Amino acid sequence: MGRTAYHGGGGLGLCFAVLLAFVVLGSVALWRSPHHADSGDAVNPSTYLVAPLGSSRGALETTYPPRRALAQLKKGDILSGEGGSSQKDGGQRKARVGNKAEADDQLREKLLKEIGSSWEIDALGTDVALKPVSEPQQSTGIYYDASALIATHAEMEEKFKIYVYKDGDEPLVHTGPCKEIYAIDGLFQNELQRETNKFVTKDPARADLFFVPYNPTNVVDLLFEPGSHSYAPMVEFVKDYITHIQSQHPYFNRSNGTDHFMLSCHDWSSYTTWAHEVFDINSIKVLCNANSSQNFHSKKDVSLPELTIPGGMYPLVFDGNPPENRSLLAFFSGGDHGPVRPLLFQHWLNRNDSDMLIFKQTQVISLDENYIKLMERAKFCLCPAGYDVNSPRLVESIYYGCVPVIVTDDFVLPFSEVLRWETFSVRLPVKDIPNMKKILASIPLATYISMQAKLKHVRRHFIWNNPPQKYDIFHMVMHDLWVRKKRLLNKEIEYVYVPNVH
Ligand SMILES: *[C@@H]1O[C@H](CO)[C@@H](O)[C@H](O)[C@H]1NC(C)=O
Ligand SMILES: *[C@@H]1O[C@H](CO)[C@@H](O)[C@H](O)[C@H]1NC(C)=O
Ligand SMILES: *[C@@H]1O[C@H](CO)[C@@H](O)[C@H](O)[C@H]1NC(C)=O
Ligand SMILES: *[C@@H]1O[C@H](CO)[C@@H](O)[C@H](O)[C@H]1NC(C)=O
Ligand SMILES: *[C@@H]1O[C@H](CO)[C@@H](O)[C@H](O)[C@H]1NC(C)=O
Repeated sequence: MGRTAYHGGGGLGLCFAVLLAFVVLGSVALWRSPHHADSGDAVNPSTYLVAPLGSSRGALETTYPPRRALAQLKKGDILSGEGGSSQKDGGQRKARVGNKAEADDQLREKLLKEIGSSWEIDALGTDVALKPVSEPQQSTGIYYDASALIATHAEMEEKFKIYVYKDGDEPLVHTGPCKEIYAIDGLFQNELQRETNKFVTKDPARADLFFVPYNPTNVVDLLFEPGSHSYAPMVEFVKDYITHIQSQHPYFNRSNGTDHFMLSCHDWSSYTTWAHEVFDINSIKVLCNANSSQNFHSKKDVSLPELTIPGGMYPLVFDGNPPENRSLLAFFSGGDHGPVRPLLFQHWLNRNDSDMLIFKQTQVISLDENYIKLMERAKFCLCPAGYDVNSPRLVESIYYGCVPVIVTDDFVLPFSEVLRWETFSVRLPVKDIPNMKKILASIPLATYISMQAKLKHVRRHFIWNNPPQKYDIFHMVMHDLWVRKKRLLNKEIEYVYVPNVH
């Protein structure tokens, strides 16, 4: 069986490490500004307080250079206040990194109990200060209707239940990659199979929606033979799996598949369902490749943000330069693939234009610090479609305070029924690529400053928290699903057959 380059790594241990890293980097977002670094590698290690550990009020501390992987930590490693992750017991507060079981039982459970989804970490010191997660404010300007979001979100938290089928074995089912560009697959797989997740029910009779937990990324990885040009093995597997679910349980036929969903960020996700026609037409697809010209329907399906976790390190989240100190007009770096990039490069590569830094790289994702630094320095970050409509740059731009420029025609943006994307991003039709500089340069500074400021409010909707917090990326996807369940009940969804385009 061949393996493709789409590498997940996967594994719960790895996911856990990522999540732990996230507590530091994402949720707490304590970041000593990277601007002070003299060069890429010479970043001074800083100390971060990670999380409370129960009633002892002990704290997990670690020292590491920014962007170093907590994911590399092994069971039994001692994280201490100084000198890296070396063994330093003497009198310092410390905690051990457990294996998954310990982590679940101790750290994660305690975090969950102590913090819950309604609280976030506010201040860090010997103790951890918590504050309630703030409710969305209409005055931020980013919402169509903040009070509607608050109401539906609260209703969802109270009522929404998901049943996850137990059928099938890892790694094709029940797991997914936790790093690189498809990391959101593994994060959701784990979260939806964590028994203490409040949306998960063990009782299918109580379920509003049913998760069909095969993982397209692992299916492609394991069942697609590179060079074979044949989707058959993976498509057959998915068909068999869904047919099995349909024949072994009464729930699929009851709704003709309409209250069932799959989730994945893999480019080929929507192709995996071809062979099961009813699933393909009726079920909810939660996809990064939310291409409205393909079999993706914005009222029924859910646009999933692409969250990249390079090398298993949750990306740091910070403001970047203030708007007046963003000297570059536009920045892009990426590979030359898909329908849009060749046009971009044709017009903007090697133009010797210091306003437009457009790089062609063989790597789709650059781990180079300069990539982040340029995102901090640029006013606008280009997010052209790659092989598919979506790009990890969208979330990256939001993380680094760079106003995203979405260059693709068929993209149904994530959370686009809630967020007013036009207030914090620029949508550029592909035909306008030649005029891009003129268009971006003509945006008045005041408009730019307003857009850039809104990114700070938008950001929390694109952050993964452990445990999940109200209004974060996990909850926003749940919210989209809940809205679809309500549409289903109100018969507001039209089921349309669109022949697949190979
Ligand atoms: C659901 O319908 C299919 C045919 O459409 C059938 O093969 C399957 O056995 C049915 N499932 C159950 C549980 O009756
Ligand atoms: C189930 O959905 C399929 C595809 O939309 C449709 O062709 C079929 O008629 C539906 N079956 C029932 C019983 O509604
Ligand atoms: C402006 O940007 C430069 C280079 O990116 C940086 O060195 C400087 O500290 C920044 N100034 C402010 C006020 O942010
Ligand atoms: C690039 O532009 C700069 C300033 O506009 C100019 O001095 C330089 O010669 C140009 N380089 C090339 C290779 O055209
Ligand atoms: C979206 O789907 C259409 C139809 O398959 C395709 O022609 C187009 O290239 C896709 N867009 C992107 C950016 O992949």
